Amino acid sequence: MLPNALQRSASDHIPVLAEEVRELLAVQPGDTVVDGTFGAGGHSSLLVTDLGGEGKLIAIDRDPSVRTYFDRFKTSTSVQARLLRGEFSIVLGQLAANDVQADAILLDLGVSSMQLDRPERGFSYAADAPLDMRMDGSAELSARELVNEADERELTLIFRRFGEERYAKQIARAIVRRRAERPFERTGDLVETIKHAIPTPARFGDGHPAKRVFQALRIAVNDELAALEAALPAAVRMLRPGGRLALISFHSLEDRIVKRYFREESRGCTCPPDFPICVCGHEPILRELTRKPVRPSPRELESNPRAASAKLRVAVKEGCS
Ligand SMILES: C[S@@+](CC[C@H](N)C(=O)[O-])C[C@H]1O[C@@H](n2cnc3c(N)ncnc32)[C@H](O)[C@@H]1O
Repeated sequence: MLPNALQRSASDHIPVLAEEVRELLAVQPGDTVVDGTFGAGGHSSLLVTDLGGEGKLIAIDRDPSVRTYFDRFKTSTSVQARLLRGEFSIVLGQLAANDVQADAILLDLGVSSMQLDRPERGFSYAADAPLDMRMDGSAELSARELVNEADERELTLIFRRFGEERYAKQIARAIVRRRAERPFERTGDLVETIKHAIPTPARFGDGHPAKRVFQALRIAVNDELAALEAALPAAVRMLRPGGRLALISFHSLEDRIVKRYFREESRGCTCPPDFPICVCGHEPILRELTRKPVRPSPRELESNPRAASAKLRVAVKEGCS
């Protein structure tokens, strides 16, 4: 249950897998907790209750609009809390370089409900709005530039790689043809072009026909996968031995990166099996607490269908705490 000052309004983000995160991160009084994706502060609000009034919370988010949520959060807690605005891989790297250590780090990836449900942010295919999709509105690249300026090959690659879109080539071709008449300005124009580019039966299967292209553009605009790849080692550098790192991902591209990183860093010697002695010297730096990802319960899905694709993985940093 959230403290009164933090009761959510109907449009706020609902924290996903909240009890599972809390249990697996096992925050103790006096700990330093880093919430690398603060959003509306739903997870932070729960984690600080485990700090029992002692310890620190460092919040990070690249979206300046979370400041309002952070200010509200701060009035509800007696623990030291500060918000660092920026891309999490960079901020985590800077904290680690300055010898700031953490006992628990959470990255709840992707976009928040506030970002998705504000049509003017341009994330949603469900509302006609300016094409934008930047989590940080001051970033140079928006979906508008990408859709109007990337060539057909680049668009095809983006839709295929980040959206796993079967009709990537056809959609990219249709976009290039349509923008030669007039540039794309709005999400609605893009949705119409996508619908017309794919075969009629495909418009009715497997969710909204623009779902995968919108996901792909969002990932490309915010460089989400590169940020995740860089954030994982930075987070581990910041963790104290015995500290825990939790990741919530929402699509297979993200989960694959987390899974591979956790596996590689949990392994010892990587020498070929026929080597008589170890020459690599590789030591495991992580121990996985979740061999299989934790998924939302049917009860959670009933109250929050947006949690449907969520997967939680948690690892602990090796060494004595
Ligand atoms: C799914 S929401 C987090 C919601 C939060 N856990 C809660 O309970 O309210 C993801 C948040 O992370 C931020 N974000 C995503 N990628 C980021 C990155 N690379 N660096 C910093 N913030 C990022 C987004 O702006 C968004 O506010």
